[in-house]
Amino acid sequence: MRTILVVNPKGGSGKTTLATNLAGYLARQNQRVMMWDLDQQKSSLSWLALRSPELPAITRLGSGREASQGDKQKNDWLVIDSAAGIQGKNLSYALKHAHKIIVPVQPSVFDMVVTRDFINRLLEGKAIQKQEAFVGIVGMRVDPRTRAASTLEQFLMQYDLPILTYLRDTMAYVNAAFNGKSIFDLPFYQSEQELVQWQPLTKWVKS
Ligand SMILES: Nc1ncnc2c1ncn2[C@@H]1O[C@H](COP(=O)(O)OP(=O)(O)OP(=O)(O)O)[C@@H](O)[C@H]1O
Ligand SMILES: [Mg+2]
Repeated sequence: MRTILVVNPKGGSGKTTLATNLAGYLARQNQRVMMWDLDQQKSSLSWLALRSPELPAITRLGSGREASQGDKQKNDWLVIDSAAGIQGKNLSYALKHAHKIIVPVQPSVFDMVVTRDFINRLLEGKAIQKQEAFVGIVGMRVDPRTRAASTLEQFLMQYDLPILTYLRDTMAYVNAAFNGKSIFDLPFYQSEQELVQWQPLTKWVKS
């Protein structure tokens, strides 16, 4: 079982949107997917509860429980959604499980300041230094035509980390989530642009 952690201590950076859509993508690929929601607000689990049994299945890991050997054998992927403000022991605990770590960042000064401190701490971690876990960044709610987008791009260039993709700000994510769907569960005509933007991200996850 491979584990992907979506993490950024900045509230509202897009963790749940990324985690749920990634789980939705993997499930659509006939992969056996489990979600683990470390956030007290349980947004990912609420999304799962809305998900129709007719959609590709995603199972949930019960609260306060780590993946057992049985879970590991029964699933191909574990997607972990984490909480705003995560730090200290909780952060170490989440990182301990991850093979791939995705950090969503929005193009605002408030987000970039928190993310900078977080990435600096993240890169000091043993697993990352030993290359047992890999970090990638996703620019979230980015309109490439804006000054904010180029500021974000410049900010991210200081790190030797892959910028996996930029995802645009669109109601497609919001509307899909109302029904426990990912953008991969929408008709093609409603998600065409999103699918293109997700391609490099899913490629990195599977690599
Ligand atoms: N690309 C996007 N386009 C449009 N809306 C988005 C996008 N990404 C996130 N959002 C919206 O922004 C809000 C915050 O996103 P989300 O809940 O995914 O962030 P979060 O990091 O999980 O927040 P928290 O720290 O509170 O857990 C949500 O209302 C979500 O629907
Ligand atoms: Mg969240």
